[in-house]
Amino acid sequence: MKKVVTLGQFIVKKQEDFPYAKGELSSLLSALRLASKIVSREVNKAGLMDDIRGSSGVTNIQGETQMKLDDFANLEFISSMMAREEICGMASEENDDIIIFDRPECQDGKYVLLIDPLDGSSNINVNVSIGTIFSIYRRISPVGTPATLEDFMQRGREQVAAGYVVYGSSTMLVFTTGNGVNGFTLDPSIGTFCLSHPDMKMPEDGSIYSVNEGNYRYFSEGVKRYIKYCQEEAEGRPYSARYIGSLVADFHRNLIKGGIYFYPASGLSPRGKLRLLYENNPLAFIAQQAGGRATDGRMDILDIRPSELHERTPLFIGSKNMVDKVHEFIDLYDLKGEKNK
Ligand code: AHG
Ligand code: MN
Ligand code: MN
Repeated sequence: MKKVVTLGQFIVKKQEDFPYAKGELSSLLSALRLASKIVSREVNKAGLMDDIRGSSGVTNIQGETQMKLDDFANLEFISSMMAREEICGMASEENDDIIIFDRPECQDGKYVLLIDPLDGSSNINVNVSIGTIFSIYRRISPVGTPATLEDFMQRGREQVAAGYVVYGSSTMLVFTTGNGVNGFTLDPSIGTFCLSHPDMKMPEDGSIYSVNEGNYRYFSEGVKRYIKYCQEEAEGRPYSARYIGSLVADFHRNLIKGGIYFYPASGLSPRGKLRLLYENNPLAFIAQQAGGRATDGRMDILDIRPSELHERTPLFIGSKNMVDKVHEFIDLYDLKGEKNK
């Protein structure tokens, strides 16, 4: 019989990867594991329970209407982190400001956590996959003092761990601590995440492109030409278009099958839509660890120095050769004139 490795066992085994962490990062990942199981349970009954379905009517800082499950997931992750002592503060897509954990034990915590508690929330009411994205940094401010904004405004390269949960036909937790990417599937009958996708690698090439093509007319010339390239009849093309509208789910599929996801800048949203700290950085870290690539169309996502908490950037992420290709088009049609100025 094949030996099953649970996420709990895996975390304990991998503790030796972090000699500096003395089990703290492991304990932190365990807390995330528990919170995501609780959110998974609620997501699974979203269609059943009228009281958790539909809009809460509250609008978040991005001007979007929060669904009730967004609130639930947000509070669940915050309270499960607050109950521990590894984290001194959190930043969430759903909160305007950073959340400072002021219990003295928490002020001794060495890490901060950034989270998109529920990604793809427009898909909640229609039984389509949604997710959670998280990112962990070591704090910059001195241990024993309250967390500061500076702790959260680090480049993606400084992440010590990042991951996502996809609440799909099954629930999966995928994460990296900088030593490759591993995926765990929740066995609902025993409530345990089991290692199902060890050492995930993103194929260097793919035949899927994921973009909201309804916005085509607002894209730059380079992006438009790349989309046309995807649709051309040539060796291996046209590619298939696949767009779920939940970044986590689109990224997860492309990670396994090979593909590219992009949310470019456009006339509608000059900085794109996705948030650097809660969405782009964590997925870029995972892509990089799986052999893929993530950029904003100009530079690596992981090298961007954040200037505000809820900053947005364009995103091109996926199979390395596909991201290289879209860059050829952007360089030729969008940046060439600029470079010659
Ligand atoms: P969130 O639900 O956290 O606000 O994120 C939604 C994001 C992302 O998941 C998705 O890929 C994208 O928004 C879809 O945007 P469009 O509807 O503009 O294509
Ligand atoms: Mn999101
Ligand atoms: Mn969200």
